[in-house]
Amino acid sequence: MIEFEGLVKKFGERTVLKGIDLKISAGEIVFILGTSGTGKSVLLKTLVGLLRADAGRIRIGGIDVTDISEEDYLPIRRRCGMVFQHPALFDSLTVLENVAYGLMKHERLSLDQARPRAHECLEMVGLGGQDLESLETKLPTQISYGMQKRVSLARTVAVGPEVLLFDEPTTGLDPVTTKQINRLIQELSRKLKTTAIVVSHDMDCALEIADRIVVLDQGLIVAQGSVAEILRSTHPLVVDFLVEAKAREVTA
Ligand SMILES: Nc1ncnc2c1ncn2[C@@H]1O[C@H](COP(=O)(O)OP(=O)(O)O)[C@@H](O)[C@H]1O
Ligand SMILES: [Mg+2]
Repeated sequence: MIEFEGLVKKFGERTVLKGIDLKISAGEIVFILGTSGTGKSVLLKTLVGLLRADAGRIRIGGIDVTDISEEDYLPIRRRCGMVFQHPALFDSLTVLENVAYGLMKHERLSLDQARPRAHECLEMVGLGGQDLESLETKLPTQISYGMQKRVSLARTVAVGPEVLLFDEPTTGLDPVTTKQINRLIQELSRKLKTTAIVVSHDMDCALEIADRIVVLDQGLIVAQGSVAEILRSTHPLVVDFLVEAKAREVTA
């Protein structure tokens, strides 16, 4: 479904990604773990063509997208729903308008036409029920940060992406909200049958929901495998991540 082959990304003299080989199957939940500055965000941005590779190939659903034009990238980018660390909602639009935005823009629906799908998506992210009516007319600034994250997730899934890309979805959230968002990522991916790539430095989250964990260090994949395989890994960086995850479990 998604394939990186020998992917290299440089900024000036500096090589950030040094040859990434990675295949991700449809429906898989893959966590890409690494300390900050290792090139995780660069990898996601290169996948959706916001940055271009210096060498190697990227294929999405069998299509080689490495050298396609910006114009040809647009429909591909639309198949990849990107969820950023910060909710990035439009502050001047209501919750409903935010969720309906993509449907109105790309499918040329009116707000009324988009409303049922928007409601469905808000329900999927746990914002349905009796509060929906009062919620949908609120502005992002009038709801909690955790709710804003849910709304941003609803907005992303509304347009029906085949791949969900999360960049540090739980960074800066409290432990309870972290757990909720993490479960939501899993539930949504399963329900919508989407592939999910989650960039994170949270090993706890990865151990809980990942089908596969890929550990990136200084631009290279240094370990990868199922949760069971990662738990058995003796790679020093993986061990560090695991120790930190365990330590937090004890102090939680
Ligand atoms: N647009 C850019 N121009 C120059 N350097 C960049 C750019 N984007 C990222 N970098 C550098 O690439 C490295 C990896 O960045 P990034 O992928 O954001 O790390 P992280 O793993 O924390 O997401 C960092 O050293 C960063 O400074
Ligand atoms: Mg990043």
